[in-house]
Amino acid sequence: MKAWLFSFLIPGVAVWAASCTAEQASPPEAPCDAAETVTYRVQVARIFYNNCITCHNNASRLGSISLEGYENAKQVVREGRLLGAVRHAPGFSPMPQGNGPRLSECDIQAIEQWLNNGTPY
Ligand code: HEC
Repeated sequence: MKAWLFSFLIPGVAVWAASCTAEQASPPEAPCDAAETVTYRVQVARIFYNNCITCHNNASRLGSISLEGYENAKQVVREGRLLGAVRHAPGFSPMPQGNGPRLSECDIQAIEQWLNNGTPY
């Protein structure tokens, strides 16, 4: 087999192995950076500010939810609605709302890991 083919195949297999729950139709993503411990400060705030804050800030609070700042984000976690919404799980309103795409699988996994670790700052 030609070498150039491997340069496609190997990253492809790594993505597949890292994201067994990813939708099959979605384009391949770079492998998640799983080495770091996920914290609000380093990873999670960026996800919320890039994808959610236009609707969930302290002024507009759509759905009575603000994701502005660490304390507000933790409050949403305490109410237990966060992961279901970003995973588009049954019984939750799929987020981000509107025509925006679902969060990347790496972003969702980062949020999940953050929850599992007790939402560290
Ligand atoms: C375009 C505006 C908009 C964006 C962007 C948006 N939301 Fe929402 N969100 C809403 C509205 C409106 C509601 C309340 C109505 C509803 O539940 O659909 C809501 C509700 C929610 C809920 C409660 C869901 C439930 O089932 O109870 C959560 C949690 C949430 N949003 C999190 C997020 C997160 C996390 C992001 C970013 C990844 C995000 N939202 C992006 C508008 C938005």
